[in-house]
Amino acid sequence: MCGIIGYNGKKNAIPILIEGLKKLEYRGYDSSGIAYFIDNQIKIFKEKGRISELEKLLVDDKPTIGIGHTRWATHGKPSKINAHPHRVGNVTLVHNGIIENYNVLKEELKKKGYQFQSETDTEVATALIDSLYQENDNKLEILEKAKNLLKGSYAFVIMFDDCKDTLYALREGSPLIVAKSKEGNLVSSDIPAILEYTRDYYLLEQEIAIITKNDIKFYLNREEVKKDMLTFTHDIKTASKDGYQHFMLKEIHEQPTLIKNYLDYYFNNLDLIPDISKYEKIYIVACGSAYHAGLIGAYLIEKYGNIEVKVEIASEFRYKKNFLTANSLVILVSQSGETADTIASLRLAKENKAYTLGIVNVVGSTIARESNQVIYINAGCEIAVATTKAFTLQVLTFSMLAYKLLKKNDSQLSQEVFSDYQILSDEVNKLLNFNYQEIAKKIAKHHDVFFIGRLIDYYLALEGSLKLKEISYIHSETYAAGELKHGTISLIEEGTPVISILTDITIYEKTISNIKETKARGAYSLVIARDNLNINQDIYDDVIKIPNLSDLVTCVLTVIPLQLLAYYVALELKYDIDKPRNLAKSVTVE
Ligand code: M6R
Repeated sequence: MCGIIGYNGKKNAIPILIEGLKKLEYRGYDSSGIAYFIDNQIKIFKEKGRISELEKLLVDDKPTIGIGHTRWATHGKPSKINAHPHRVGNVTLVHNGIIENYNVLKEELKKKGYQFQSETDTEVATALIDSLYQENDNKLEILEKAKNLLKGSYAFVIMFDDCKDTLYALREGSPLIVAKSKEGNLVSSDIPAILEYTRDYYLLEQEIAIITKNDIKFYLNREEVKKDMLTFTHDIKTASKDGYQHFMLKEIHEQPTLIKNYLDYYFNNLDLIPDISKYEKIYIVACGSAYHAGLIGAYLIEKYGNIEVKVEIASEFRYKKNFLTANSLVILVSQSGETADTIASLRLAKENKAYTLGIVNVVGSTIARESNQVIYINAGCEIAVATTKAFTLQVLTFSMLAYKLLKKNDSQLSQEVFSDYQILSDEVNKLLNFNYQEIAKKIAKHHDVFFIGRLIDYYLALEGSLKLKEISYIHSETYAAGELKHGTISLIEEGTPVISILTDITIYEKTISNIKETKARGAYSLVIARDNLNINQDIYDDVIKIPNLSDLVTCVLTVIPLQLLAYYVALELKYDIDKPRNLAKSVTVE
């Protein structure tokens, strides 16, 4: 989604804004822009495309206050005119989010004489703030009023023409952080943009922040309030490529260490993993990969905890009839903690008195703050749009929730699983070193790929297929293997890649029959299989073996080849792996 950076200090703001925007590129964008005060006037530069296009326009000014934005188009196509910052009258601002009532506001503002150049909801919000400014020049009062009039989600950083030394920031629904540093004060939509200057930051909530060169103040209902400062505690390398060609590859390679740290931490603090057996109904609600982690999680909890679990896509769950009660548990899974549909589902669950448990990466994010309880997955900054390490740690978290139940029910088995957890990190490391490139070259030649599996292998396949689609743009379908015969097998032609996952010992033989059916129709078969299964060479052209450990651990291992295959296919096709087209890292709009 869009990215915001603002700077107010003593240094030249232009390189700070541009570098900040570059640190936010991973969020996804299609245009960018900056605005700054210089010689008592505001200058705005914006351009469609990459930040390098914007840089070509810049002049040799040395302003010390300014704002910047990367836009991911929602209202109106990617274009220079729709790009931010927007300026109307005395107000210049950047905006993340969506103003839902912008059409109504636009009509009212037109009656007051405002004319609009762009198709954006942001220009309407800018005009609204300017219209309030025409009636009253008290900035806090204007912004409080604007908060009451705007519906939807927003994070704004604002410059007023008559206030050349101050930035104003406010938010609802879209994140914003504010930070003091020796180099000057900063405001941003995300942590990587400030890490070069400081690790300490404030998370803006309902307050309005007033950011001057030397100070940051927060106001709620026009009263000054004090806020607690947060500190980014992860290794700073987590926000850099650290010598890797792509963030995605670096994040895949971080997994052995992250898994080890995660297990050390949670086995020493097992109380932080709740016993979920007391609830009448359990729902897991999430989007995208986090939803796939939920499907795997439900399988593990049902199998090892003997409790029924429903898994729901957040954008569906929030609108369908619900059966939530005070005895329900709703588990919200989100890397960013800011996904709009997952937040809405969390709020719906709370309105219905259900207990909410967030499985979240970003510390202090909305889902982390609003859930009754949170388990942090501690993945550090995940920059690549295609999630890898966060997904793996989400799966591991579900594995731990199931383990906690297993420990109560079957202490001997839980002891065996415990031993498997001890070697998980090393086994992940070994899987990183397989030669995926050769197989990836074969897959990269095709336009359609099929993933098949049954039960947990189907859920893992869903994630493998999503990874491939996101970054290689190869169309791929995932089927519960038994469904192939009900239609899709008609699509298998000579050479069509079929990637089959065979780790579920209870059902793999059935999947083998389905693989044979595809091979009989000419498919190229790649099998990702648990090491100890009895598999004949006639069912595969290539095979990747997964160590034979408990299901609670093997599912984590199986993710690794799927991630690396997607990566190397995209690499072979020379795509922009960390910034896939049309995608945003965190989907903060509906
Ligand atoms: O931040 P979240 O975990 O809530 O994001 C959910 C999905 O948008 C996310 O997993 C998405 O599917 C990823 N790009 C997949 O790689």
